[in-house]
Amino acid sequence: MAERVRPLQVALLGCGVVGSQVARLMTTHAADLAARIGAPVELAGVAVRRPDKVREGVDPELVTTDAAGLVSRGDIDVVVEMIGGIEPARSLIQAAFANGASVVTANKALLAKDGPLLYAAAEKHGADLYFEAAVAGAIPLLRPLRESLAGDKVNRVLGIVNGTTNFILDRMESSGAGYGEALSEATALGYAEADPTADVEGFDAAAKAAILAGIAFHTRVHLDEVHREGVTEVTAADIACARDMGRTVKLLAICERAEDGRSVTARVHPAMIPLSHPLASVRGAYNAVFVEAEAAGRLMFYGPGAGGVPTASAVLGDLVATCRNRVGGGRAPGESAYARLPVSPMGEVVTRYHISLDVVDKPGVLAQCAMVFADHGVSIDSVRQTGKDGEASLIVVTHRAPDAALASTVAALRRLDTVHGVVSIMRVEGE
Ligand code: NDP
Ligand code: HSE
Repeated sequence: MAERVRPLQVALLGCGVVGSQVARLMTTHAADLAARIGAPVELAGVAVRRPDKVREGVDPELVTTDAAGLVSRGDIDVVVEMIGGIEPARSLIQAAFANGASVVTANKALLAKDGPLLYAAAEKHGADLYFEAAVAGAIPLLRPLRESLAGDKVNRVLGIVNGTTNFILDRMESSGAGYGEALSEATALGYAEADPTADVEGFDAAAKAAILAGIAFHTRVHLDEVHREGVTEVTAADIACARDMGRTVKLLAICERAEDGRSVTARVHPAMIPLSHPLASVRGAYNAVFVEAEAAGRLMFYGPGAGGVPTASAVLGDLVATCRNRVGGGRAPGESAYARLPVSPMGEVVTRYHISLDVVDKPGVLAQCAMVFADHGVSIDSVRQTGKDGEASLIVVTHRAPDAALASTVAALRRLDTVHGVVSIMRVEGE
């Protein structure tokens, strides 16, 4: 008679937007999961902050506020961390490893800050660290980068990795919704972080960029090394201006290897992209990421980037992977940071600017402005001027130049008496 396989014990930390869907899928898909893993998977406990909250489909007997006690019970095989933030998530994950459990997490903030610490703890205790859901929600992106492209050389990762801000920009453009109204809607739909500042100020996308750059370039990239600008400064006028020029505004994460291959950069900022670019048609909370690899060429990953149900799919995928390792032997890939490439500052990134100026409408002003660009070594691609009541609106799009040169050009333009205002500055990508 076949020996009965011991059920694997899973501790779920956090039962909010994502955690509640993980619990639901673990229950509804229990038989399939057992068949795919080769052993049943049981929910051993669910740690939350508010034990009295009604949680549909979760056995109240399993609910506890003692997350530390649950993690160190001694019989836990996998800890699924769905709390978010730095503490207590970091201590709980470390305790999980110390107790021999493997960890599945979606916590990009913690990974971008303390990824090496977590990898080292997993390695020390012979456990797995999986985090597919940390970047781009449901989209399988980290596993392809870590495993499928492990034999290739990735040169660039570019895309939309924050669902909340894409939702906001999309609503502002398509329905003329105000910024605040669009953010409230994204929060109600479960896309935003517990503190939505993380989304709108670009911290969430920057954390994801750090994770992506680290994996893509086999180099440690800390959150502080990622240039970050959010969407709070993007105005309806910017969006209208982009539309007039056949472009749209997206919050992009861009990780690049320098042309000489000796350094990398990682940045997050709003950018104008042509309406014909595939990223322009990424709507709502969807994400899309291009990966450019030397041999594979240009790959595109697209799908739901936020929300409880889609994100839970990625978490369950990781849960199956780590449970299979428990049953059949095997380990998750560990940290790969052997390349140790330096991360260059934003000033060295070569990019293009779209600059909108209000200037005095008199002879010589255009030439004066053009001279400022020339003095800073910035070549102009196009100029559009429209007159209005003694003033003129000047829209200049540059060719590619180092960001530092572009920034000092704008600073010099601001100092001209004939420039009444710099209405908007935005980088241009994807052309
Ligand atoms: P929520 O805020 O919806 O849920 C957080 C959960 O953690 C709640 O159940 C909360 O308990 C519990 N919790 C908070 N503090 C503690 C504590 N000290 N001890 C025990 N439990 C605690 O977050 P999300 O589900 O949205 O996000 C979870 C993780 O997934 C985060 O890392 C997030 O960045 C990531 N993520 C989220 C996505 C999304 O679309 N929402 C997509 C991809 C990743 P209680 O219910 O009692 O308040
Ligand atoms: N707040 C995040 C977003 C959740 O909007 O993309 C997915 O990581």
